[in-house]
Amino acid sequence: MAGKTTFTMIKPSAFASNYTGGILKMINDAGFVIKALKATCLTKEQAGAFYAVHQGKPFYDSLVKFMSSGPIVAAMLEKDNAVEDFRTLIGATNPANAAEGTIRKLYAVSLEENAVHGSDSDENANIEADFFFSKIERV
Ligand code: CMP
Repeated sequence: MAGKTTFTMIKPSAFASNYTGGILKMINDAGFVIKALKATCLTKEQAGAFYAVHQGKPFYDSLVKFMSSGPIVAAMLEKDNAVEDFRTLIGATNPANAAEGTIRKLYAVSLEENAVHGSDSDENANIEADFFFSKIERV
């Protein structure tokens, strides 16, 4: 059975453009409950560790630099079928391919600066939530 938890990050470019409120409203309107939330800044080491699965790929170094370039918002979200439904809400990784009405279609500027991250599996949702949130930071 699909899990009820997913994890998202609002990326530095979207945060800097003041899109955080609009993105969180879309997330709430789609039926997700925010279970943990924080604004923070990642060091290069932290961004590299978060995206370690992509180490060695051509876009890795640039992604790490971008993700440590300014504040981000991290959130743990709850809903039935959370991972799949959230990926539908955000749209394709490359905003050029994102469907109308999705978060990336509205707020992304490029493949790298694609507004938000969304977990790709229940297992990664838990790993990613654990990366940012301790037990007492979750409701
Ligand atoms: P995200 O969902 O956060 O997961 C990895 C990120 O790497 C992705 O969104 C993009 O921001 C970035 N990225 C840059 N180039 C690529 C690429 N060619 N394929 C996938 N992700 C890429």
